[in-house]
Amino acid sequence: MKSCSCIILLVSLLLTVSAQVLKKAYATVPQLVESAGYPVEKHYAHTSDGYILQVYRIPHGKGTNQMDGEKKAIVLFHGLIGGCDNFIIMGPRKSLAYYLADAGYDVWLANLRGNFYTSHRTLTRKDPAFWKYSFDEHGKYDAPAIIDKILEVTGLSRVLYIGHSMGFTTLLTMLAQRPEYNDKLIAGVGLAPAAYLNNIQRFVHFVTNNIKLHKILHELDVGAIKIPRKYLKALSKYCTSEKNLDHCLNFVYSIVGDDYGQHDLNMSNVMIMRIQPASTQQILHYAKLAETGVLTSWEDGFEGRVKPYNLSNIRTPVSLWYGENDKLTATPEILRLARELNETGALHSVRPVPQWKKFNHLDFVYAKDVGKILNTPLVAHVKELFDQFDKRQVK
Ligand SMILES: *[C@@H]1O[C@H](CO)[C@@H](O)[C@H](O)[C@H]1NC(C)=O
Ligand SMILES: *[C@@H]1O[C@H](CO)[C@@H](O)[C@H](O)[C@H]1NC(C)=O
Ligand SMILES: *[C@@H]1O[C@H](CO)[C@@H](O)[C@H](O)[C@H]1NC(C)=O
Repeated sequence: MKSCSCIILLVSLLLTVSAQVLKKAYATVPQLVESAGYPVEKHYAHTSDGYILQVYRIPHGKGTNQMDGEKKAIVLFHGLIGGCDNFIIMGPRKSLAYYLADAGYDVWLANLRGNFYTSHRTLTRKDPAFWKYSFDEHGKYDAPAIIDKILEVTGLSRVLYIGHSMGFTTLLTMLAQRPEYNDKLIAGVGLAPAAYLNNIQRFVHFVTNNIKLHKILHELDVGAIKIPRKYLKALSKYCTSEKNLDHCLNFVYSIVGDDYGQHDLNMSNVMIMRIQPASTQQILHYAKLAETGVLTSWEDGFEGRVKPYNLSNIRTPVSLWYGENDKLTATPEILRLARELNETGALHSVRPVPQWKKFNHLDFVYAKDVGKILNTPLVAHVKELFDQFDKRQVK
């Protein structure tokens, strides 16, 4: 009898755990935020070239009203193959959006064209034209439309920008091409900002020189890299079995840097199931940055002209955070970006994530202790930025 009830207990425990994991893997943003006990609003930003981007808002923290006095808004931009759920997926007391909401900020979660939170007025996802974009368009059209939407709804004149990886590439390509948006930002924070990718240059060189992958993709007219859900499920099943976990982790870690200590086993399935599509062009654009070592525009393609984005147009104070064990945006590349922004006067500060030498590219979203290691000092830093720059005179 005893062992029987133990088994029942065990089975029901397992079912509860897997139900929770499943819920997290499939839940919508409002479901996630509401079940965490926070208020959530959904808005739409329309870009001038026809994309419709969902923008979510957590207007204040749990059970509290908005911060006394002046409202302060922050917008969060996700990275490649990510979505706005990157900033809530670990839940309260972990993910950045909840930390900021609890600190009294009005938090906005952006989505960049391509992921499943975005669509187009006339094109469907099956149209090749839907996928003709990169982080160039994210900066030129998407981020401006989202920022304007936030300013319109809140009545504020400026917002603080935080971007993870491609989310910060987008800040750079926005301000380089549309410098008038400097006047709409209080400051910009880059988490593992992707600008220089020399660390993967040899890999990119191999893939493009020997395999000619860019030509194959072009000839096959593969517009998008999207993994059908059934393959994600199969991958998730494979990777969550104890036997294969190490293979999967080792593969991912060979790209982003290893950090076994911060892997949250409960999240493996969620990480895989929530992988978002990306355009081939945006991946090849990153390959072009890696191959050339220049933060260059796409121009006439991977083998086309190299034309650097003009970083001198950036007047917004910028601070950069990096993981010391990040292989994708490695320390020397972050410091190079910092030096260049310092020369033009935009750099506020650059720092490694404190107290965790193994912090890697994905830890900014998925580290087991992301709340303690990253978000606690980050929220303190954001407060400093508001104190210092909220009243900055715009030129
Ligand atoms: C994973 O889930 C189990 C069961 O809900 C929980 O006890 C454990 O603390 C979780 N692990 C982490 C790292 O959150
Ligand atoms: C870059 O921008 C700066 C400041 O806006 C401008 O003075 C400079 O001429 C630009 N450089 C190029 C190459 O366009
Ligand atoms: C920025 O420039 C100043 C003045 O040239 C220099 O003292 C400082 O070390 C630079 N900081 C970084 C992070 O490059």
